[in-house]
Amino acid sequence: MKSDLLILSAAELLTAPPGDTPLVGPDLDRPRLLRDAAIACLDGRIAAVGATAEVAARYPEREAAVVLDASGCLVAPGFVDCHTHLPFAGTREAEFESRARGERYEEIAAKGGGIRASARHVRDAAEENLVALVRGRLREMLAEGTTTVEAKSGYGLSLDGERKQLRAAARAAAGEAVEVISTFLGAHEVPDDYRDRREAYVALLTGEMIPAIAAEGLARFCDVFCDRGVFTVEEARRILTAGIAHGLKPKLHADELADVGAAALAAEVGAASADHLLHANDAGLRAMAAAGVVGVLLPGTALTLGLPYARARTMVSLGVPIALATDFNPGSTMCSSMPLMLTLAVTQMRLTPAEAWMAATANAASAVGEGGRLGRIAPGKQADLCLFDAPDYRHIPYHYGRNHVRAVVKRGRLAHQGPGVSTHC
Ligand code: NIG
Ligand code: FE
Repeated sequence: MKSDLLILSAAELLTAPPGDTPLVGPDLDRPRLLRDAAIACLDGRIAAVGATAEVAARYPEREAAVVLDASGCLVAPGFVDCHTHLPFAGTREAEFESRARGERYEEIAAKGGGIRASARHVRDAAEENLVALVRGRLREMLAEGTTTVEAKSGYGLSLDGERKQLRAAARAAAGEAVEVISTFLGAHEVPDDYRDRREAYVALLTGEMIPAIAAEGLARFCDVFCDRGVFTVEEARRILTAGIAHGLKPKLHADELADVGAAALAAEVGAASADHLLHANDAGLRAMAAAGVVGVLLPGTALTLGLPYARARTMVSLGVPIALATDFNPGSTMCSSMPLMLTLAVTQMRLTPAEAWMAATANAASAVGEGGRLGRIAPGKQADLCLFDAPDYRHIPYHYGRNHVRAVVKRGRLAHQGPGVSTHC
């Protein structure tokens, strides 16, 4: 049979076992591993996976439009970076220095820095500039193996500003390989002109911003920064409920700075994910496990802010489906490298390399509601995968600070080549 792309002779293939749901508990540490593996792609999807001899018998090389020789390589699903603040403008290295001198993230925010500083940068940026910034970031992410990224607004803090961010993300994505899934995060912070009338901002979010963003099809999810000094559980509940009424699925920035009960709220509203969770309590985590809410771990944030890491082992033992992402943003995590997140997950949160990989691929796809389509190398799934210049999946988190990517495939097409990949037509 014909194929659009045939990948042959991979030293190792790593994926979650076939299925659509996230891996939980001991299953997180039971990936599917194949040696001398091949993958045939057709019409953007995976048509076959298995031993090279078997796949090549059904999908011969001579009938393949493109052949990739993956000898000596690891093949894995492309990373799904399921939590980023991608359409931002400006950078905040002065705050980075202030923290090094002892100031806390919340103190900087209270003085008008933090998210409100990035809101000023976005206000002053033309949509065209944001498009160019996002485009460049998507290319950098692709080069490190990310094939899908969730992108939050949240630095507009007005209908026009949020719209500008979400439009910029969509426009940039239209011409790039990396797929963008957008989230409305108007409730990221109370903007400058609403500081002494926060209720009016919540009313604006629920009454005007959410209906407009949903009607314009600019976002799939609605997120709230529910934490000490930001939005309360009560406010978050109202905002997420308004989102649900307009077809936006809930997500939460939950219990990052303090335990405010946001994990339990995520379970109560049936959120797709609750993210950060550095201070989440056991009852909240149990509720998330029962409701099937994915817990998104963002170790780059703990690293940058010097906060305690999320209790990943506790979450796994309580049955919370966990995912891994970067949180790429100009304040708390100026990093878009998923391989580095694997390293932090293993060394700082005590996940095994296999658990970290599953969290960054199959489970991350579930965190954006795409467990049926993305995150696994299995027949019928979208053909999003990555070839690494390493024969063993453990090598990637182990050998950090170096880009091992040889080639990236998105929707069955070769989207990026690192040095040394061999192809023939
Ligand atoms: O996920 N926690 C809230 N939002 C971001 C930080 C945003 C910023 O500081 O600009 C985060 O860490
Ligand atoms: Fe975030």
